[in-house]
Parts: sequence; C-alpha cells; structure tokens
Amino acid sequence: MIPSIEWTEENTVKMIDQTVLPFELKFLELNDYRDVAHSIKIMNIRGAPAIGVAAAMGMALATIEYKILPKKDFITSMEEAANLIQSTRPTASNLFWAVNRMLKIITSAPDDPPNISELVIEEAKIMAQEDINVNKNIGKNGAKLLADNDIVLTHCNAGSLATVQYGTALAPVRYAIEQGKRINVIADETRPRLQGARLTAYELHYDKIPVKVISDTSSGLLMRLGKINKVIVGTDRVTSDAVFNKIGTYLVALAAKDNSIPFYVAAPTSTLSLHETIKDVVIEQRDSSEVSHILGKLRIVPEGVECLNYAFDITPFKLVTGIITEDGVFTPQELLKKYK
Ligand code: MRU
Repeated sequence: MIPSIEWTEENTVKMIDQTVLPFELKFLELNDYRDVAHSIKIMNIRGAPAIGVAAAMGMALATIEYKILPKKDFITSMEEAANLIQSTRPTASNLFWAVNRMLKIITSAPDDPPNISELVIEEAKIMAQEDINVNKNIGKNGAKLLADNDIVLTHCNAGSLATVQYGTALAPVRYAIEQGKRINVIADETRPRLQGARLTAYELHYDKIPVKVISDTSSGLLMRLGKINKVIVGTDRVTSDAVFNKIGTYLVALAAKDNSIPFYVAAPTSTLSLHETIKDVVIEQRDSSEVSHILGKLRIVPEGVECLNYAFDITPFKLVTGIITEDGVFTPQELLKKYK
C-alpha cells in the first residue's frame, strides 16, 4: 500500500481520504492545521498511529503559520493549535502522545520561532518514518506467532491505512506472507463505519493477500467451526488493566477465550498509556446517525428511535493472550513489568 499520509516537499500534508474508500482512491492536500484537525475529526484519516502522525504534521503546519510571531505569542498560539488538534478524538493515545512530543520541542528549544518551525517539521517527518519502522518490527515479532495455513481474524482496520504504512495488526500477516507462509485473513465488517469491509478488505485485496469479510456477529460461529485459529487486533490505548479498541473487540475476545483461540493485540509503544486505568479513559461517542443510517444515506432505524454509538470498547487483560510491540511479544503482566 502507498503511505496513508506524508509531508510533501511543498510543506503540505497529503493524505488518503479514507471516507471515500473503497469506491475512490482520492488524496487531500492540506496546508492549514485547522483542516488537519477537521480531517481527524471526520475520519478522512483514522486509526491511532495515523491520527498521531496527522496530529504531528498539523502541529508542523501551525508552526509555519505562527513562526512570524514573537516567541511568547508563538508559544501561546501553538498551545491553542495543540488544544484544537487534541479536541478532535478522545480515545487514541497517539493523538496526545504526538502533540505533547511536539509541544515539548516548542516550549523547550532555545531557538527563535522560524528555527523551531524547522525542528518541528523535521520531527513530524521523523515520526512518520518511525511509525513505518515500528510497524515492521511488530510484523517481525508477530509473524513468529503465525503458522503456515493460519486463518487470522481481525477487527476494524489496523492495517497500512491506520498507520503511515504496513499496519500494526496486519503487520504480522504481511511479514509472515513475505516469509512464504500461507495466511488467510477474515475481516469483521465493523459496524457502523465499516472499516473492516471498506478498508481492511481494500488494502489486503490491493496487496493480493487473501481476505474474506464477515458480518460482525459471525466470528463466534467461525471459531467454533475451526475456521479461525488466531485473532490479531490493533488498539487505540493500552492502560494498566485493559486494551481499548474498536467497538466489538471485547465480544471477539470473549468468543476467542471460549474457543481457546489466542487473542493478540498489536500495539506500538506510542499507544501504551500504562499510568492510566480503565476509569481514566474517555470512550468516544459518535453521531447516532452512523448507526441509524447506512453510509449516511439510507435510514434503517425507525424515525424517533434513539441509537447509541460508542466507538470503542474495553477488553480486560484477562482475555488477552499476548501484546505485540516493536520490542517483542508480551503477556499483559510482562508488558507492565517492561514498560510501566
Ligand atoms: O475509529 P477508528 O477507525 O479510528 O478506529 C480504529 C481502530 O479501532 C484501530 O483498531 C486502532 O486504532 C488501531 S490502528 C493501528
């Protein structure tokens, strides 16, 4: 897959517009951080690592706009830009991690605003490249868990499109295939935004990796029938007691446990937030029309009936077999020991 986001030579942010996939491969080119914030909010770009890199690039655009200001005003304006970018989506750790990484440079560098702007632009490019390197290592570590002919279930899209490139949950699949193993993927369609049907299926099909899409309620049966033997999902935030990921992940983990199927979570360390516990995390609630309507067009719920639209759920550590980071594969207890 081509990168989902990149910093261009013209100092703009170029991203795939994921809201029109798989019907159209369209790119957005943005030069205002407010537009980047809006793109994160309306999910032109989505997936925790990609959101992080978009946020970093948004901060870089803001430095270009504000670098003409005196240093004190520059810092105040950058803090306002940071607040706007951080207000877009509440659950993915990477958004806050990326903005804070930029703010640290902005507030601690002794340089003048034009030089700080150069530093921040460089850092955004470094973060994009880092993301690809981290994902490849997740792939290498996770591929050791996969055997020839495995059928891997994944939920939502934690692939190339959810990162800069290569993906997190799909990285072990990609790496195992590069090693010559035959791996098939089953993708949950992932109601209501359909990231599995629209994005996971798109990128795997694009890269000629065998994939079948199922309705979200099918995975339990397929596990019972022996048609799934591993689960790998991504994550938006890992706290000291649970994994937060796309709504529906918890039910997949429960079904995996009941069928003795390993349930793995691919998590770059930028997604770890181990100083927090479940109660610290805000679960995003999105517009109810995402549930009441198909693709924002066809109403499928009677007028006047309320819909609830939580975007993420909570999978407790007791249901997680292993967490794959760029450093290795860890049980939740080992993960806490290593990173907390
Ligand atoms: O609402 P989204 O599409 O941003 O949700 C994405 C997910 O839940 C992914 O599984 C998660 O961000 C991990 S992406 C590598």
